[in-house]
Amino acid sequence: MSAKDDAAPETRLIHTRTERLGRVTVNPPVERASTVLFRTEAALYGPKPTYGRMGLTVHRELEAAMCILEGARHTRLASNGLQACALGIASVVESGGHLLFTDSAYGPTARFCEKRLKAMGVEAERFNPRIGAGIERLFRDNTQAILLESPGSLTFEISDLPAIAEVARTRGIRIVCDNTWGAGLNYKPLALGADISVQALTKYVIGHSDAFGGAVMTNELSLANKVAHCSEDWGIGLAPDDAYLAVRGLRSLHTRLKAHEAAGLELARWLEARPEVASVLHPALPSHPDHALWMRDFTGSNGLFAFVLNEHPPTALERFFEALQLFGMGFSWGGFESLIIPCDDQLTRSDGCWTKEKPGQLMRVHVGLEAVSDLKADLDAAFAALTAA
Ligand SMILES: Cc1ncc(COP(=O)(O)O)c(C=O)c1O
Repeated sequence: MSAKDDAAPETRLIHTRTERLGRVTVNPPVERASTVLFRTEAALYGPKPTYGRMGLTVHRELEAAMCILEGARHTRLASNGLQACALGIASVVESGGHLLFTDSAYGPTARFCEKRLKAMGVEAERFNPRIGAGIERLFRDNTQAILLESPGSLTFEISDLPAIAEVARTRGIRIVCDNTWGAGLNYKPLALGADISVQALTKYVIGHSDAFGGAVMTNELSLANKVAHCSEDWGIGLAPDDAYLAVRGLRSLHTRLKAHEAAGLELARWLEARPEVASVLHPALPSHPDHALWMRDFTGSNGLFAFVLNEHPPTALERFFEALQLFGMGFSWGGFESLIIPCDDQLTRSDGCWTKEKPGQLMRVHVGLEAVSDLKADLDAAFAALTAA
């Protein structure tokens, strides 16, 4: 083991140099190539990647960096986060099988499970993210895999991955975990019992809202081969420029995440004290029902959380959004900019509890890298518009 292997992740993510094209630069070259030329037939059909779709220098460097980030041995890249989720799941289920997936999975991933997997002969069933070891009751003879996402999309429940892994292991059921929120630095699903960890690089890794990317990480060679075969059969790949932006984003991931975390917590606490707000859903706050689990399994948080408004008429909400100058209303998160979206329209939960129980609109917030005082002032003005008679 070299000194670099002992270094902190943020140090290792800066020194990820892999094999280069002769010259050594601090950043990898971006080869925009479909065709790779060879001089001999043996080399053409040899073990090295022979076609740009399988990735070239920058992809190898990104894969190595993702392995460092997630504590993984193998990484496979995809063109976006949704594709990475689909790839991870499809690698561990087959026709005639049964998949259990968390009720608070990212919406399009849930749609993939319920619609696309069904068309492929795999039955997908939702479960409560707080089920823990109780998931055993849902196991069937043909259960092949479990999809977790912790914290869950929009409602931020933390799942007890170690407890779920313990009961799944005895039955040979594979666990796939969407680790986009943990971003690899704050949560290590593979160390906690998952077989596959997946990330949308589009969020914190790329970090600047200007590219897409996805990654699927594993430790087991046989599983990595399954992911690779599935990826090759589907023709999955990542554009070289997007791969480069992901490598570049990784250099500052640790520093950016710390800033998002500090600002996110400050704003979450401020929101908790607002009279217009019924509750704040942030796992790093002691008021969160899964705070103890989060403390046990995570080493940090970030800028993404949600809050529930007290009941307000739709016209008041319109005034709220119109008054915002800094918070933008748009999908995705993990970039430098602050965002806010109303979520009720995309809240699909199997028992309907979320839509029944809460007083007002669920709002998801992403706290960017602006000064927190400016963000508070922006929300303050929007709250004034919300409650204006
Ligand atoms: C938790 C989570 N997983 C996956 C995705 C999909 O990522 P992408 O937008 O790169 O397809 C998202 C996107 O918002 C997400 O929030």
